[in-house]
Amino acid sequence: MSNASAASNGVDGSTTKVSRFDPTFTDKVIKTTGPKANPRLAQVMPSLLRHLHDFCRENEITVDEYMAAVNMMNEAGRMSDEKRNEGQLVTDILGLESLVDEITYKLADEAGDAPTATAILGPFWRQDAPRRKMGDSIVSGIKDGDHTLMHGRVLDFDTGKPIENAELDIWHTAPNGLYEQQDPEQPDWNLRGRFTTGPDGEYNFYCLRPTSYPIPYDGPAGKLLTLLDRHPMRPAHIHFIVSAPGYKPIVTQVFDRRDKHIEDDSVFAVKDSLVVDFEPKHGDPKAQFDLQYDFKLASFEAAKQRGMKGATEVAP
Ligand code: BEZ
Ligand code: FE
Repeated sequence: MSNASAASNGVDGSTTKVSRFDPTFTDKVIKTTGPKANPRLAQVMPSLLRHLHDFCRENEITVDEYMAAVNMMNEAGRMSDEKRNEGQLVTDILGLESLVDEITYKLADEAGDAPTATAILGPFWRQDAPRRKMGDSIVSGIKDGDHTLMHGRVLDFDTGKPIENAELDIWHTAPNGLYEQQDPEQPDWNLRGRFTTGPDGEYNFYCLRPTSYPIPYDGPAGKLLTLLDRHPMRPAHIHFIVSAPGYKPIVTQVFDRRDKHIEDDSVFAVKDSLVVDFEPKHGDPKAQFDLQYDFKLASFEAAKQRGMKGATEVAP
């Protein structure tokens, strides 16, 4: 690029290359933030503006290209409702949700406070899934699929003791690769449920061994994938939100080791410690596979003693 020749000092103390495209413009925009601005925004905006403006200068973005991006954002907004979150999908294929998940987890890890690894929420969680009894199945109205007994314990990260009254909120796709809200053929709330542990911290429920599926690609996220010559597939996984009174909740997923997309998740969410083995199960007429996994939660109390940022319980 021919546009950088000297350096200047910015209002936030940073040094920027002098560009032939209005070199003082970015500082002018940054300076418009007023003294009563939201403190976090006032902190992060100079950096965001520098990166955005530098990206445009370095790549000599034209008005037509800018309008294509604006139209894509607008199309994502128009497609979004309570059943579809296209804006989030676009950020997912860019790795943004997985990156902020990694940053959040790493901060907890550095404070000595990293229980079970986290993974992105994704756009298909639904609030208020039905509460089910331990040992119930979350499968309804589906004949095909490999039925699985998933079981394990929810444990205190520091003491290793079982956690009573922990809630596991679970969701996964049907064998056709669709979540129930995407598929009029599936009963409402199919393959979703909330389970609460007893004093032994144990949980067990029947589900299906999940299959890999494409993220929705009939909108802007799909168009972007095509333009980038990328596929939309996610490796087979089950989603969880695990929470308990007095503990920091975790959002996570477990991934089937044998899935062919385990190494190339279109939204970059796979972590080694979340990769699991579905074992063949014998003697249970309700399941052909068995999956064992323990979840660990960090208590607010322990986090507070470690001086963790954000170590206060937020009312649900
Ligand atoms: C999901 O796993 O449900 C998901 C995550 C990101 C984008 C699309 C789907
Ligand atoms: Fe998913």
